[in-house]
Amino acid sequence: MSLLAAAGLVKEFGGLRAIDGLSLSIEAGELVGVIGPNGAGKSTLFNCVTGVVTPDEGTVTYDGTEVTGDPPDALARRGLVRTFQSTRELETMTVRDNVRLAAPDQPGERTVDALLRTESMQTTERAVRTRADELLETFELDHLADEYSGTLSGGQRKLLELARTLMLDPDVLMLDEPFAGVNPTLTGDIAEHIRELNANGMTVVIIEHELETLTELVDRLVVLRQGRVLVDGEPEDVLADDRVIEAYLGGGA
Ligand SMILES: Nc1ncnc2c1ncn2[C@@H]1O[C@H](COP(=O)(O)OP(=O)(O)OP(=O)(O)O)[C@@H](O)[C@H]1O
Ligand SMILES: [Mg+2]
Repeated sequence: MSLLAAAGLVKEFGGLRAIDGLSLSIEAGELVGVIGPNGAGKSTLFNCVTGVVTPDEGTVTYDGTEVTGDPPDALARRGLVRTFQSTRELETMTVRDNVRLAAPDQPGERTVDALLRTESMQTTERAVRTRADELLETFELDHLADEYSGTLSGGQRKLLELARTLMLDPDVLMLDEPFAGVNPTLTGDIAEHIRELNANGMTVVIIEHELETLTELVDRLVVLRQGRVLVDGEPEDVLADDRVIEAYLGGGA
């Protein structure tokens, strides 16, 4: 059975069918790219799968259970984690705190909590701090750890977002345009990190317009058009497919 499956999804906004009877299955360990012209429904697909919006029709199944409409935090606790197209870190908080606070079940910082803090909570806290520091180092944000997140460049924000996401220790990582606004060097670095995470067993699904990096990275490409799967297959076959070329040239990219 697939690790993650959408079946017959429909999502309308007003009269507009953003997702129009879409079915897609992802196997454990896959590294999949999702592409398609603007407005094809890529982000809405992620939103339906991760409980950010509830589909009007169809089901989402994750790890053997139907999870249609389950809230994002419940899914994240079960290992299904996503990033957003626009980053959502708190700008008036430091980079380090943004990463630490992404960890689930953060103990409070109030005095009473500090007094009542149990040993196991302290162990958890230490683990959170260690993991946060590791991730800051991995994504070369350690020298910026004490800066306010609002001062970061677009590319650095993407790295911060990825670091925050990884604090949740996902089984399935869904990335919405991780390379948008990121310079070529950082893009290469992020792609390398994603490849490594996947090699270590993480299932990864990436929406991206930057096709050169994406097609080199993924094993499988899914093309959406007008809320449906147009083509699904190996990157080189997909990119050579007339329907895909037509979707980009003629389909209102
Ligand atoms: N919350 C919403 N309310 C109203 N319309 C929406 C909403 N979310 C998406 N849409 C519409 O649904 C369609 C699909 O949008 P979606 O964001 O999924 O496309 P996309 O493939 O991610 O595009 P892009 O490549 O530009 O990010 C678009 O016409 C969009 O305007
Ligand atoms: Mg989008």
